[in-house]
Amino acid sequence: MGRFDGKTVLVTGGNRNTGLDIVEKFVREGARVFMCGSSAASTASGAAMLKERGVAGVLAQPCDISDISQVTALFDTVEREAGRLDILVNNAADQGLGQGGPLEMDPSGMLSVFRVNVLGGFQVTQTACRRFFMRQPERGVVVFLSSNTAMRAIRNRTAYCASKGAINSMVRSLALDLGPLGIRVNCCAPGYIYTERWESLPPEKAARRRLNCPLRREAKGADIANVVAFLASSDSANMTGEIVTCDAGCSCQHMPEDVDV
Ligand SMILES: NC(=O)c1ccc[n+]([C@@H]2O[C@H](COP(=O)([O-])OP(=O)(O)OC[C@H]3O[C@@H](n4cnc5c(N)ncnc54)[C@H](OP(=O)(O)O)[C@@H]3O)[C@@H](O)[C@H]2O)c1
Repeated sequence: MGRFDGKTVLVTGGNRNTGLDIVEKFVREGARVFMCGSSAASTASGAAMLKERGVAGVLAQPCDISDISQVTALFDTVEREAGRLDILVNNAADQGLGQGGPLEMDPSGMLSVFRVNVLGGFQVTQTACRRFFMRQPERGVVVFLSSNTAMRAIRNRTAYCASKGAINSMVRSLALDLGPLGIRVNCCAPGYIYTERWESLPPEKAARRRLNCPLRREAKGADIANVVAFLASSDSANMTGEIVTCDAGCSCQHMPEDVDV
């Protein structure tokens, strides 16, 4: 028997990297899972990768979460195919890569990142609550993916770091207002996660990143999926508004070992 037998789950950005592992986790533990990427091509490629992994029964539909009409269409599909939703995982993110530092970046880059990470996460959550959670006696659970960069910044990623800080605040605000209605909202804040982007990293850079972590390792997507599943399950029934950091201890240190004095 699986922990999520009979549950319906929606994972945004479930088509690659960490999102794929989150989808796989819920399927392997019994859930019916819906996922989206931002485009038809990326969503189809994610569906194919899940098939290759032997993860069956996932319904994939493209949805740019910053576009409310596409969000509505995605929830129309969930309603038609499953008739309910129990768990929402807001994993999709615009990484805001390549924007440059705060002096050179185009200010519109701030808006484009916020449109996906903050507005997108909000409107998916609001739609889930209105269309499903508030109509179901068992309500529902929301898990956001934030980042440890909300607390300790990384260079030349102002828009991304700011958006993840906004997500942490939004999680607490949503938890406060939705808690009395029976809806829990929590957040996992990862540090380094091994993704396809690590494959092009020079080995010395990967090693230096690991030295930045007291546990000397980056997360695998499965590590993050485990935390997300915990926050989505009844094991965390007394938790809401929490930001759970999963970063191999990276953010508990003042400075990494090789620069410690
Ligand atoms: N990787 C890390 O080291 C790290 C560290 C801390 C926190 N995190 C957070 O953990 C989560 C997963 O990280 P990741 O590195 O696996 O992510 P990723 O590789 O950057 O993938 C991002 C996902 O979000 C989707 N997405 C982007 N814009 C979208 C939009 N407008 N509408 C719908 N989907 C959209 C992408 O879909 P497409 O394929 O269509 O673009 C993709 O599936 C993110 O929230 C990230 O910020 C990651």
